[in-house]
Amino acid sequence: MTVLEVLTYPDKFLKKKTKPVEKIDDNIRKLVKDMADTMYEAPGVGLAAIQVGSDKSVILYDPAPDKEQRAYSVLINPVIVSMDGEYLSENEGCLSVPDFRADVKRAEFVVAKGLDLEGNPVNIETDGILSVILQHEIDHLNGILFIDRISSLKREMYKRKVKKQLKKTN
Ligand code: NI
Repeated sequence: MTVLEVLTYPDKFLKKKTKPVEKIDDNIRKLVKDMADTMYEAPGVGLAAIQVGSDKSVILYDPAPDKEQRAYSVLINPVIVSMDGEYLSENEGCLSVPDFRADVKRAEFVVAKGLDLEGNPVNIETDGILSVILQHEIDHLNGILFIDRISSLKREMYKRKVKKQLKKTN
């Protein structure tokens, strides 16, 4: 079991765009395993590789995380193919944005595609919580945090809070 450090805002690495995985090798399989350990330990419903300091285009998620079952899904090089409708994601949070939650306007339906860990193409059409998780995690791969999608007033509130905390600890 390897629990990785989760980078948190304002770490600049979180703003990076990730690179596509060219070959699913032992490094990628190890990364996925460590990411799963990290996600269940947190616990969280999703994790993007960029959050643990890797610039690879990899996400994993489990809408109902259970440490024993570990029924997570992996998407490699995921992209959102289409989105439709509107959905208010209430109290959205992120392991990289600790101690903060906010409502985020999301699409209701998404179609996403990518590869599974064996390199097989995967197509997901979904709504509800899984749709929100996919939008949130794929945003991470493009350097976007959920606080980039809330009102600037709320975002500034959070940024001020973090600044204050950083001053206290330094
Ligand atoms: Ni997140």
